[in-house]
Amino acid sequence: DIGALRALAGFGSVMLVGTSLTFLGTIGAMLLIDPWLTLYAMAPFPILIIIAKRFNQDVDARSTAVQEQLGVLSAKVQENLTGMPVVRAYTMEERETGEFERLNREYLSRSVGLARTQAVAWPLMGLISGLGVLIVLWLGGKGVVDGRISLGAFVAFNGYLAQLAWPTIALGWTLANVRRGLASMQRVVEILDTRPTAESHGAIPVSDRMEAAPSRPEPRVLPTGGMEFRGLTFSYEGRSAALSGVSFRVPEGGMVAVVGPTGSGKSTLGVLLCRLFEPPRGAVFLGGADVRDLPLAVLRRSVGYVPQEAFLFSRSLRDNLRLADDGADDERLRSAAETAGLAEEVGGFPRGWDTVVGERGLTLSGGQRQRAALARALVGNPPYLVLDDVLASVDAGKEWEILRALRGAVNGRTTLMMTHRLRAAQEADWVVVLDEGRVVEAGRHPELLASGGLYARLWRVQQLEEELAQA
Ligand SMILES: Nc1ncnc2c1ncn2[C@@H]1O[C@H](COP(=O)(O)OP(=O)(O)OP(=O)(O)O)[C@@H](O)[C@H]1O
Ligand SMILES: [Mg+2]
Repeated sequence: DIGALRALAGFGSVMLVGTSLTFLGTIGAMLLIDPWLTLYAMAPFPILIIIAKRFNQDVDARSTAVQEQLGVLSAKVQENLTGMPVVRAYTMEERETGEFERLNREYLSRSVGLARTQAVAWPLMGLISGLGVLIVLWLGGKGVVDGRISLGAFVAFNGYLAQLAWPTIALGWTLANVRRGLASMQRVVEILDTRPTAESHGAIPVSDRMEAAPSRPEPRVLPTGGMEFRGLTFSYEGRSAALSGVSFRVPEGGMVAVVGPTGSGKSTLGVLLCRLFEPPRGAVFLGGADVRDLPLAVLRRSVGYVPQEAFLFSRSLRDNLRLADDGADDERLRSAAETAGLAEEVGGFPRGWDTVVGERGLTLSGGQRQRAALARALVGNPPYLVLDDVLASVDAGKEWEILRALRGAVNGRTTLMMTHRLRAAQEADWVVVLDEGRVVEAGRHPELLASGGLYARLWRVQQLEEELAQA
């Protein structure tokens, strides 16, 4: 779109002015020589313009289709290169080759279609403009023979007509460009006009738009307090409710675990608390304030959020951890890493804290990634913590260790911990059990076990799984 806009603003406008002037001048000169002949000569032009427009649309649509297919094709190649181990492991080579073949064929047929259309369009337009020349030669020739026009004037007229051919073609091309440019402009303006949906209220509107820059010189965070969900009902666009009527509190400095089967809505709670999706008003509270009334930057600096899918940037481990606070010294990093159970491993990395991790660096295991993300959240020293299944890829022994250390670090922080590991939930002051977006049980670990509900069932299943794993 930007390219089309540039063509419109630059070359396009110059061409438009240039060709228009040539047109006017040439036609004026022709009218002076012989108005009638000019009229005849121009007769095929409307047809030419109509046909040019029609073909232009067709060519446009076809070349877009070709571009799209090329996109699909390169996505496929990329997917296969990235997923090569999976392709090999599942002996998908033949199927993938076949699929590539099919996409390639589609690309070929679309390209040929485009070439065909162009092959018809150009000669046809040439033919029609040739018709104009033919008319002039015939009628004008007769005029010369009859002595109505001088031979000199006739030659001049023909010269002018030839002059017109190029601007006509250029005009068609420019008009197509203008149309495309205007359409592009509309799309670009649409994007520029889009406001962030999570409008913040109050103090710092500018920094909200620069959420990517993670730390301010003077971090402003909320004071410690409780978290509360009050009759929270939420559905993702076009889906049935992910959460319905969820109410519970995490008291100041306390730790509440949310457990439940896959898809029960655990992650959604954290997403709404950090306003990664917008919760309804009057349903989610942090330190007594509706999160909808908090400036986004303050909210997000106050909550150490560790997402379920930990993401690290392709930078050094030190830079990754410092995202939450780029003033953090190595001592803070080390203590955060220790709490997150990552410190030992950092020592074992080829370049320690300077090891580049992520996509274009050292590949970390899922567990290491999650612990790095956990350490990152701790470095910012936030009063609130939201830990979404952070121990999912950690083995049971390590889990204990981290939980123990976390208990110390969490001390004083209000913590919401989503997990499908009930062993981790044991560490919490209070456990909320979700099922299909509803709170079905809540209580302390022993009480929930005794009551024989969903929690007790999940617990038995996990015990069995662990025994099987050991056997
Ligand atoms: N970004 C999204 N867009 C649409 N639907 C979503 C999105 N994220 C989650 N959902 C849906 O919302 C419901 C709750 O999902 P959620 O991720 O909160 O469950 P969960 O308890 O965290 O599951 P898991 O244990 O697998 O992490 C599911 O039905 C899921 O398909
Ligand atoms: Mg989840």
